[in-house]
Amino acid sequence: MTKTLLSALIGKAAPLIPVLHVENPEHAVPLAEALVSAGVMALEVTLRTEAAPEVIARMRKAVPQAIVGAGTVTKPEQLAKVRDAGALFAVSPALTERLALASEKVDIPLVPGAVTPSEMLAAREYGFHELKFFPADLMGGTAMLKHVLPLYPDIRFCPTGGISDGNVMSYLELANCFAAGGAWLAPRDLIEAADWAEINARAKRAVAVVAKG
Ligand code: 3PG
Repeated sequence: MTKTLLSALIGKAAPLIPVLHVENPEHAVPLAEALVSAGVMALEVTLRTEAAPEVIARMRKAVPQAIVGAGTVTKPEQLAKVRDAGALFAVSPALTERLALASEKVDIPLVPGAVTPSEMLAAREYGFHELKFFPADLMGGTAMLKHVLPLYPDIRFCPTGGISDGNVMSYLELANCFAAGGAWLAPRDLIEAADWAEINARAKRAVAVVAKG
């Protein structure tokens, strides 16, 4: 089955995907505004908090230009739940047969995680050509992605884990990276402190790093 690709949703202009841990639904809108106004359009709200579906719904409603997705999808039944909340994409740290089968029934682009050549091949056999590479820093970083490019030229990655302004371009310049994600743009402590100015400044800095190339 042909899958809708996350890269088609975010386009080339939005390769930074903040991974957002949001406990308080009241933080959803100001957080999305702080990021989107800096040019960070794709937002991954992790399901590591109970509030996540409500956060997704509030962001979609109040900040319609944001491309809001759900992260840390680890249960097949969560796909329909996040789609119903308004998520435009879903990200998982891994892939199982049950998750792959569920994704065929729920119309939402899923980016599953894979870090070994075997996992990457298995994901491709299920029809996934865009994969999360997590935790990128521990799983070989850019060197690993360079190694697998000749093997799987038709697979592209969104690395997350240990990414910062200092190394994001070393990933994004790879032919097999379509985006890069992480918490550094909007870390949990800044979200909890409602420090939207600092999150906006971080997002602007990261956008400038990418624009400079
Ligand atoms: C993820 O879920 O992708 C990670 O939590 C992001 O990793 P980081 O915290 O190192 O950015």
